[in-house]
Amino acid sequence: MTSSILFVCLGNICRSPLVEAVARRRFADAGLSIEVDSCGTGGWHVGQGADERSIRVAEEAGYRLRDHRVRQLAVDDFRRFDALLAMDDDNLAVLRASSPPQYRDRAILFLDAAGLDEYAPPIVPDPYYEDLDAFRHVLKLAEQGVDGLIERLRRGVPLVAPSRAATR
Ligand code: 4NP
Repeated sequence: MTSSILFVCLGNICRSPLVEAVARRRFADAGLSIEVDSCGTGGWHVGQGADERSIRVAEEAGYRLRDHRVRQLAVDDFRRFDALLAMDDDNLAVLRASSPPQYRDRAILFLDAAGLDEYAPPIVPDPYYEDLDAFRHVLKLAEQGVDGLIERLRRGVPLVAPSRAATR
């Protein structure tokens, strides 16, 4: 059973806060009681709010992002969360390298966990050096990905290995 999910990107200002905001709302709307949080593998922006562009596209779509505060990945996160869902391969590599061995299976790509097969590779691209359209694309992936997670959670499909490997 999955009862807690941590969304992970590089800076915790653009992608993972947006995915967290979408997940918080849509899980609640779906009646799923799942703890959600987000963090960054890097520590440059710790304590800051989300990127203004993420806040803008979130608010355009009715999600709240003003209260977000950046935090960095902590080693205790691997014990605390059932699934640590990375936005891209770099974030995933850092997660896997930082994880205590017994929790390493809990870290996978967000879009992979969501079962979104149409995106190859299944990553949420870093929009930091891009324009607002890149942030709107992140929001679209966040909504599709979260809906994919909801669909799997409703079916009782574990999001992460080892049992997930047998059910994909
Ligand atoms: P995020 O985007 O990982 O989606 O939050 C970035 C945020 C900050 C930086 C890079 C990506 N940075 O280089 O500071």
